[in-house]
Amino acid sequence: MEELLKKINKQKLPKHIAIIMDGNGRWAQDKGEDRLYGHFHGVESVRRIVEASAELGIQYLTLYAFSTENWDRPQQEVDGLMALLVDTIHKEIDDLNKNNIKLHIIGDMQMLPHFAQSELKEAIASTKNNTGLNLIMALSYSSRWEIVNAVKNIALDVKAGKVDAQSINQEVFQQYLSTKNFPDPELMIRTSGEYRISNFLLYQLAYSEFYFTNTCWPDFKKEDLYNAIIDYQTRERRFGKTGKQIQEAIQ
Ligand code: IPE
Ligand code: IPE
Ligand code: MG
Repeated sequence: MEELLKKINKQKLPKHIAIIMDGNGRWAQDKGEDRLYGHFHGVESVRRIVEASAELGIQYLTLYAFSTENWDRPQQEVDGLMALLVDTIHKEIDDLNKNNIKLHIIGDMQMLPHFAQSELKEAIASTKNNTGLNLIMALSYSSRWEIVNAVKNIALDVKAGKVDAQSINQEVFQQYLSTKNFPDPELMIRTSGEYRISNFLLYQLAYSEFYFTNTCWPDFKKEDLYNAIIDYQTRERRFGKTGKQIQEAIQ
């Protein structure tokens, strides 16, 4: 682990890492267990990766925990996930504060059961003055929901005379997204060997580097995060320019 850590260039850390935490169900089923057993162990990985990110000095970590489409799963799994979420947040508040971590939620909070909404509000309020890692949980989140919502709110503001339609540009639009206070992720990781975005941060991932691993989320360790960052640091991010232009700009 120390060897891996040494390979990370601290000057070139991504500011924002986003993770699609996938594979809990298959991980459990491979062990002959119920899917919820996988979610339960997934929480351990969340703890490890939040800790590793804070230790490294990552500023923003977005974790995709529950999508809008996940509401269509069997009721027993949805209920189990909600209970696990509330229980985890409740237990973790003290540690979040101890580690100076600020919690944010993106997603359609109104879809969540009331007991979950109040627990989350409490955790957000309790951590709001922390200045370390920003932990952004995507809950009942989908990017199409977010984008359509942004368009609706812009239209309402134009109608109310608060925004001039001609002045709408990328900066203005970005202010209507639930990620308005966060920079775009430089690195997006998906576990469990699936190569898709599944309605996650479609707008914000425009120029992110993607890292896929076959490891299922409950098996994802600090070392796996380090490997993803090391891989990211080998990439040349060109943003449409030529490699030569990028090299010249560095010199
Ligand atoms: C990710 O694991 C967690 C959630 C979507 C809540 P999955 O539950 O999707 O696990 P697989 O992909 O079915 O194995
Ligand atoms: C994406 O995983 C959502 C989360 C990890 C929370 P899914 O397991 O729901 O995605 P699909 O259905 O395989 O695309
Ligand atoms: Mg899945």
